[in-house]
Amino acid sequence: MSVLVTGISELTTNDDDLGTLSDAALVLDDERVVWVGPADRAPDADERVDVGGRAVLPGWVDSHTHLVFAGDRTAEFAARMAGQPYQAGGIAVTVSATRAASDAELATGLRRHVAEAVAQGTTCFETKTGYGLTVTDEVRSARIAGQEVEEVTFLGAHLVPQGWDADDYVRLVSGEMLDAVAPHVRWVDVFCESGAFDEDQSRTVLAAAKARGLGLRVHGNQLGPGPGVRLAVELGAASVDHCTYLEGHDIDALAGSETVATLLPACDLSTRQPLPNARELLDAGATVALASNCNPGSSYTSSMAFCVATAVLQMRMSVEEAVRAATWGGARALRRERGDGAVGVLRPGARADVHVLNAPSAAWLAYRPGVPLTHAVWRKGERVR
Ligand code: NIG
Repeated sequence: MSVLVTGISELTTNDDDLGTLSDAALVLDDERVVWVGPADRAPDADERVDVGGRAVLPGWVDSHTHLVFAGDRTAEFAARMAGQPYQAGGIAVTVSATRAASDAELATGLRRHVAEAVAQGTTCFETKTGYGLTVTDEVRSARIAGQEVEEVTFLGAHLVPQGWDADDYVRLVSGEMLDAVAPHVRWVDVFCESGAFDEDQSRTVLAAAKARGLGLRVHGNQLGPGPGVRLAVELGAASVDHCTYLEGHDIDALAGSETVATLLPACDLSTRQPLPNARELLDAGATVALASNCNPGSSYTSSMAFCVATAVLQMRMSVEEAVRAATWGGARALRRERGDGAVGVLRPGARADVHVLNAPSAAWLAYRPGVPLTHAVWRKGERVR
């Protein structure tokens, strides 16, 4: 069944030819966008929806989350707000709670967080394992993630679990654990940071993943300068995420590469780190994505609108750059921005993922920060809000 959406005051398409349109209309048919253009030239459809002079964007593409977990870390957050630094070791608290949870508890929590994000306009998700850290628990996390989320990442290299020698654990992650989890995931990620995995250990895991044909992602340069960005670019990772502490050579490497710099401003705020230098990345020609990093430790928000508002108000990104980074940029970080069923774009052939704002323009995302502005959402052509 086709749906004609009219009354669009401003339509962000992220398509180079279509650009941003005013007085626009869209036609959705089943799971696809089939027509985009000026309202006065729109074809007819089975159903009409007039959005009454509101702005329309592609649904958010949240390319970095950790949604398979149990428990919460409120006490750690409170200690941080009282002056304690964020440390990778906090992950172990969530690992214990996650191992103790049943499959049903993990699946229910995942569904709840996905529903919360969809209600705010997120229509495409990536999520990671990384709170299991045994072969059984990582396979279980990946399997549960795949029931709800289309892009699943293996993050066995999140933390060296208690009682393990680091090199033995790296051998497990890049061997038996990777083989067991591989059928359930598209991506492999490594937390390349002091307190987690060093450059050699990260390289071992990423090389093993690449040899098995899996896509690469890296958590890098989150807590200080380090080798994460350089390694991600060298190995052709689709994305290096965090990028909070970048040096000139990191920015040059990203600018000359296909690796997306995924910025996670909600995490930097929640861990009292500086915000990443988005302006320098963009001016150098790097591709930037914005994502929520929703997880119970360092960034417990599913709000992409909050990330966009922060990027505009605090990181010197324009509204257009921030909205593009949270839609097309996320899609690019997942290599999903092209072809039939592309996400993060609104053009004929793209997936029918549509976010209607309760606002006349996307600028209101930063102009009215913190105000819920989602009016309607279609996900894969289905009206979900
Ligand atoms: O992306 N950096 C590593 N992983 C998560 C944090 C996970 C946690 O603290 O539980 C992140 O910030």
